[in-house]
Amino acid sequence: MDYFTKEVDFYCGNSPEELLKRFGSPLYVYNEKILRQKCRDMKNLLPAVDFKANFSTKANSNLRLLQIIREEGLNADAMSPGEIFVLMKAGFRPEEIFYVSNNVSEEEMLFAIQKRILTSVDSLSQLEMYGSLNPGGKIAVRFNPGVGAGHHEKVITGGKKTKFGVNPQNIGEVKAILKKYNLYLAGINQHIGSLFMEGHVFVEGVKAFLNIAKEFDGLEFVDMGGGFGIPYKKQQGEKNLPLEDLKIELTEVVQNWLKDYGQKVSFKTEPGRYVVAEAGVILGRVHTVKYNAETKYIGTDIGFNILKRPVMYDSYHELEVYRNGKLVEGTGMEKVHVVGNICETGDVLARNRDLVPVKEGDVLAVLDAGAYGFCMSSNYNNRLRPAEVLINSQGEVELIRKRENLEDLVRNF
Ligand code: LLP
Repeated sequence: MDYFTKEVDFYCGNSPEELLKRFGSPLYVYNEKILRQKCRDMKNLLPAVDFKANFSTKANSNLRLLQIIREEGLNADAMSPGEIFVLMKAGFRPEEIFYVSNNVSEEEMLFAIQKRILTSVDSLSQLEMYGSLNPGGKIAVRFNPGVGAGHHEKVITGGKKTKFGVNPQNIGEVKAILKKYNLYLAGINQHIGSLFMEGHVFVEGVKAFLNIAKEFDGLEFVDMGGGFGIPYKKQQGEKNLPLEDLKIELTEVVQNWLKDYGQKVSFKTEPGRYVVAEAGVILGRVHTVKYNAETKYIGTDIGFNILKRPVMYDSYHELEVYRNGKLVEGTGMEKVHVVGNICETGDVLARNRDLVPVKEGDVLAVLDAGAYGFCMSSNYNNRLRPAEVLINSQGEVELIRKRENLEDLVRNF
């Protein structure tokens, strides 16, 4: 069996046990080298055309990580004024931020307009709203290409069963509203959903989308969305997304379309997960090992307040066990339920998982937790959000977000 953290030298010589002793448990740990490499993979997806990757901030909005992502030359997408605020704190300039709005108030739209951040609207009425707030302004419109993909129905954003995007049948109405308010349509965007592992799913979405794009003259950009998957089932041999194949297929589609369109257009993507997921693990502590009826439970401090994905989407994350600072590479696997410390029966991190025999006091690592991990964590049960640390390119450990303390729980009263 392959052990991911060992294979990629995730901790760069730092011991998981020491990290927990120093920063407390549970703990989010990121690896700068991996993060930078993933940024480069995404940045170099379409070298043959004018292309930019926008990091989708919702996947991870830690200020220090955003700074690194910016240093690597990615722009960013924001989904809320909060994300815009954090991105600007991380040094992104207004022209490097794209606000992909969805069902927002006038106040929110004005926030982006005042900050001179290009906004994409998600419905005809929101386009009207934008036009009345900023006549003569520059805008983007999100379309639903009718094609969807994703690891769970909750994250499929294209197709008939989703709230997102303007229906391509409404292109006439879009043009009329643009004209009414003298708006300049700088670009159109889409996002078919989160996590595909085969490039052609994405390319199919892009083809449908480019058919919509050709209906508009003078576009500055076409934003093809995110959703680039990572292999969560690493120990079972799941392979990486074949980026090289995707690159070839996508380049051909895009270049052919450019010839037909006959005008200069730049292309964008919106990757979130791909950039950060594999750069992060959660370390936690095993506090209880017990049986209930026939089931063996491994009780940890990694509840769904720390990582929501398994409970929300039945997501699978590989686990590693460390004892006395060393990875336990065992045989004699046992089937166990790994659970957290939240007062709900559904607080299950891994169900019927084959794991090396675990002992109380062991350290558990949850892999691929860099995306939609910390940013979806909560104070449920009045538990504290954990610290985040970065193992930088020199192998040194930097604290990049402090652990909350009890006073934080009453700060806003
Ligand atoms: N662009 C838009 C408009 C999006 O809605 C999303 C994700 C992305 C880009 C980035 O998608 P990515 O490259 O990360 O797949 N919490 C879920 C994923 C939710 C994704 C929502 N939208 C999870 O933990 O799997």
